[in-house]
Parts: sequence; C-alpha cells; structure tokens
Amino acid sequence: MRLDKFVCKSTELNKTEALFHIHNGHISVNGTIETKEQTQVHENNIIKLNTHVLTPRPFRYIMMNKLSGTICSNIDEVYPSLFNSMQIEKVSELHIAGRLDADTTGMVLITDNGRWSFAITNPQQKCPKVYRVTLAKDIAEDAKSRFKQGLLLQGESVLTRPSTLEILSAKDVRLSIIEGKFHQVKRMFSAIGNRVVALHREQIGTLTLDVEPGQWRYLSQEEVCSFQK
Ligand code: URA
Repeated sequence: MRLDKFVCKSTELNKTEALFHIHNGHISVNGTIETKEQTQVHENNIIKLNTHVLTPRPFRYIMMNKLSGTICSNIDEVYPSLFNSMQIEKVSELHIAGRLDADTTGMVLITDNGRWSFAITNPQQKCPKVYRVTLAKDIAEDAKSRFKQGLLLQGESVLTRPSTLEILSAKDVRLSIIEGKFHQVKRMFSAIGNRVVALHREQIGTLTLDVEPGQWRYLSQEEVCSFQK
C-alpha cells in the first residue's frame, strides 16, 4: 500500500494532513525518515508518526443490494452515489469491486482492500458474476452456443470470454460471465440483436445476494476468504 494511504488508514488524518506529515519528515519506515507519499509499505513494516507507531484499521468487506437510480461512485453525478444511504465512516476509503450501471440492481461488493477487489475483477481469476436478465425480444435459439463461443462486442478486437447462458423463459435468462467490460451484459445481448430491459446481479463468486434492496451487511471471514484461491 502507498505510504499516504497507510497513514490515512491508521490515523484520523485526511490525505492533505497525511501529506503534510510525510513531506515534513514526520514519518519513518523501519527507522528511516520517508518523505515520498508514493513509497510502497507493508503491514509488517514499523511505521511511525514522530514516535507513535501506526497500526492500520482492519479492512472492511461489505455486500450491498444496489437500488436502481444510484451510481457506483464515491461522488454524486446525475444520480446519487450508493454510498449516500450507507451511513458508514470514512466512505472515501471504500471502493466497489465491479461497478454496476445506474439502472442495474443487485449485488455490489465494497471494500478498502485493493488486492481483494482485484481477485474479483481480474478476468484471469475467473470469478463468476451472475446476472438475471430481462430481454426486449425472445432469446434466439443459438444464443447459448454463441455466448459459449464468445462474442465480438462493438468497438472491441477480441471476443468475450466463454460465458454460460441459462434460459428461464423466452425473455428471461441468467448469464454468468467472468469479465466486467464496460456495459458488458447489455453489449453482449446487443451483439446478438436483442436488448436488455432489466438487469440484476444475483451472485459474485460463491456469494449469493441475501440483503434487501438498498440494504447492506459486512461479509464474514469465510465469505471474504472465498475469493482467495
Ligand atoms: N453489464 C452491464 O451492461 N451493466 C451492468 O451494470 C453490469 C454488467
């Protein structure tokens, strides 16, 4: 983790205040003054603010059921941020492991541990994200095999990775993908001549959504570890 982040995560200082202490030589790493905020530090380093040893707060891991009309961002834009309703401390330290569009509902995982979220979002890790999809038109007969083979999305030069489509009814399907390209699910259905009218994420990895719309809860240790291979 970067030194400035470590200082923020282990004190009540904001980034400007942390930078002040770093640049003015108040922070030492293993006994040596460190004045560069981008220096990478590890939890087993001894990091001090003057004489006081800094200990970072434990990481946070959260499951939320996102409402339509909210955005996966730390700041409000056209729509309000989903963090607005959370009433949780130090929101600026949190980020979302795999964003959803404003009109998409369902599971978002929220954390302040970048390594953990990388294990969820990096396609190499093959972590499945499962969506319930409502379509404008009846699903094509060959959709299942086309999704399995991979699709060329508009503006892309490589096929999507193989995905699994389960047909529930003519206009209602469940799709499991391991990537998270921009608007991926909507673009996949557009590539086969259909259109998504409602999108809901019901599962990430082995975790299934079990909180009410707009609600959230902390993950158990076992759930957190389920993403580590
Ligand atoms: N794919 C989309 O098109 N939108 C989402 O919100 C998530 C996946």
